[in-house]
Amino acid sequence: LIAFFQPKVLAGRRVVITAGPTAEPIDPVRVISNRSSGKTGYALARAAREAGAEVTLVSGPTLLAAPAGVARVDVESARQMHAAALQAVRGADLFVAVAAVADWHVANASDSKLKKTEGGGAPELRFAPNPDILAEVARLPDGPWCVGFAAETENLYEHARAKRERKGVPLLVGNLAQHAMNAETTQLVLFDAQGEAELPVLPKMEAARRLVQEIAARLDRARP
Ligand code: CTP
Ligand code: CA
Repeated sequence: LIAFFQPKVLAGRRVVITAGPTAEPIDPVRVISNRSSGKTGYALARAAREAGAEVTLVSGPTLLAAPAGVARVDVESARQMHAAALQAVRGADLFVAVAAVADWHVANASDSKLKKTEGGGAPELRFAPNPDILAEVARLPDGPWCVGFAAETENLYEHARAKRERKGVPLLVGNLAQHAMNAETTQLVLFDAQGEAELPVLPKMEAARRLVQEIAARLDRARP
């Protein structure tokens, strides 16, 4: 019922959101991943849908169900997420990158399961960088208006401001990783050209609804 009464601030907008962790294969049965639960991204997808948007959620592996009315595209690796996101943002008005994308993939991943050897040695993994999905979408000519996230364990303000510049996005949303990873509540800080604004500590769904209002107001100013 609360959902029904949300102001339709994103009516007529096409929104793409990335969420969850990525899983980078080591071999067919092993991956390297991270502690992202996907809760913040999924809550944001639900809030955007409640606000009247047409929402595509590009999701890494999570235990969460897609919110009602949201189209979900399932991916595993960062490179799959990159391909799916670039496809999904065609004609989109807004892109919100919430996913905890692995910064590297295993360059020497094996096509068959790695086996223990007699000598008791361990495999040597080599890493190669993954594409930066947000930075790339932000650079697209005629691309969507972009929002980034930054989960940091320390120096949130410094890192978030630098990240906003580096990614070339008009709005970057910061939170402390202690809150971000698998917690029920979150505190968001908004960094834009005007400066920064702290939102209160809120349950993730409340924070998502509040964030949708903040994003929609800025989007309406930038792209009426
Ligand atoms: N992001 C992305 N693709 C990547 C890495 C990050 O789209 N390959 C997005 C995230 O979804 C988030 C933002 O970029 O919205 C910031 O991610 P973060 O990991 O905090 O920044 P990095 O630039 O990867 O820097 P670092 O991990 O070193 O702090
Ligand atoms: Ca990163």
